[in-house]
Amino acid sequence: MTVTVPATGISVPAESVAAFVEDRSPRGIAAAVHRMIRAGQVQPGDRLPTVRDLAQHLGVSPATVSEAWQALGAVGAIHARGRAGTFVRDVAEPTRPTRYLGIGGAPSTEESAALDLSTGTPDPALLPALHEAVERFTSGATAWTSSYLDEPVLPALREHLEQSWPFRAQRMTVVDGALDGLSRIVDQLVGLGDRVIMESPGFPPLIDLLDRAGADVIPVAIDEQGVIPAYLARALRSAPVAVFLQPRAHNPTGTSMTRLRSSQLAEVLAGSRAWVIEDDHCGDISLAEDVSIGQFLPDRCVHIRSYSKSHGPDLRIAAVGGAAEVIDPMMARRMLGPGWTSRLLQAVLLDLLTHADPQETVRQARIAYTRRGTLLREKLKDRGIAASPGDGINVWIPVEDERSALITLAAAGIRVAPGSPFVVTADSTTGDAIRVTTGRLPDDEDRIEDVANIIARAAGSAGGALR
Ligand SMILES: Cc1ncc(COP(=O)(O)O)c(C=O)c1O
Repeated sequence: MTVTVPATGISVPAESVAAFVEDRSPRGIAAAVHRMIRAGQVQPGDRLPTVRDLAQHLGVSPATVSEAWQALGAVGAIHARGRAGTFVRDVAEPTRPTRYLGIGGAPSTEESAALDLSTGTPDPALLPALHEAVERFTSGATAWTSSYLDEPVLPALREHLEQSWPFRAQRMTVVDGALDGLSRIVDQLVGLGDRVIMESPGFPPLIDLLDRAGADVIPVAIDEQGVIPAYLARALRSAPVAVFLQPRAHNPTGTSMTRLRSSQLAEVLAGSRAWVIEDDHCGDISLAEDVSIGQFLPDRCVHIRSYSKSHGPDLRIAAVGGAAEVIDPMMARRMLGPGWTSRLLQAVLLDLLTHADPQETVRQARIAYTRRGTLLREKLKDRGIAASPGDGINVWIPVEDERSALITLAAAGIRVAPGSPFVVTADSTTGDAIRVTTGRLPDDEDRIEDVANIIARAAGSAGGALR
């Protein structure tokens, strides 16, 4: 989010503001100033009258005006700058999620690349057959006449989730995918100017979401075991409201947090008040254990598990379990919108999770993804390229120059994602990189070898280690 406060604004006289105020309550004063801002009667950068001055003109106490200023500050309309005064803010809403859209930004002139490894999506051939699940459950089902007042989560699905959850969740619900969960949690927890910690590189749509919320995003680096505790400890000194982590098969690197690391991070987090939000986007197709900081801090952690990679992105289901203090208001807010995630789709997911055939399909998918990812990593290593270790469906590869790497790959018919949208703040320690979705590689080893050769050529002389 771009927030600018030009230094050239004028001072708005107290009488001009007072003339607009019809209701002298804090709410009425805040509403009047907000109307003035929206109507362009005051401009970004203009200085508002002092609390004392406006209170005098309105015949109210300074505390009343102060409360109005606080309400306007909370929605990002104004900005207090100490002794300099209180100023109208210019909040330029981003019109498009730039990083999200940037992932597909490979400069290819081809209509479609012969091999598209840019998507971050699972291989359709490795997903369980939905029609079989639908047939199984519709043949046994009576009419689905669920009520608006039914439980949002099917009781049998809830039970299944609770049993498979990495910690005892105070609340459990399902939403329309992990990104829906992240978005609702950001709305719930993050206000303008709040500090938030996340891994860098990290998930571009989350960076977009946090930018939109006006958050100050503090990046933390990861190593082969997850977020580095010393970096987290340092970032926590700025009193963030939340820490967003990917516990396994991290996108873009594939790194998974070890059990040891989760306990070290929990120890560091115990000294702070930050919420811990975990995004397990790969779920069951990751080889790694389902570890969570919620095992140590259950009332401060919310864990999200997506079924998009394991069971299909179009199911649009993710489970969200953890702290009631975050999940209760999120569910209450959702009642005034979609209300719940389609119970028909929940029933399909439950069927897929509990029947032997789809369970076996997901197991086979995990094996196939691991093989494809491992082969590519090994072959890159043989060619002097230190790709990130890990599992899941993505690999992060340092390159000498991002743009020329994308062009070299595109010329060979391969599309990959540029690394820059994944990086929270580019600095001298963050080199150029690309993200390759290994999950979409063919199984043929010779073909993977060809791809490794092309990537090695595209990477140039960059052979750096995972940062
Ligand atoms: C880290 C991460 N979080 C969330 C998502 C979105 O998942 P969903 O399809 O469940 O919304 C993705 C998708 O690739 C992801 O990589």
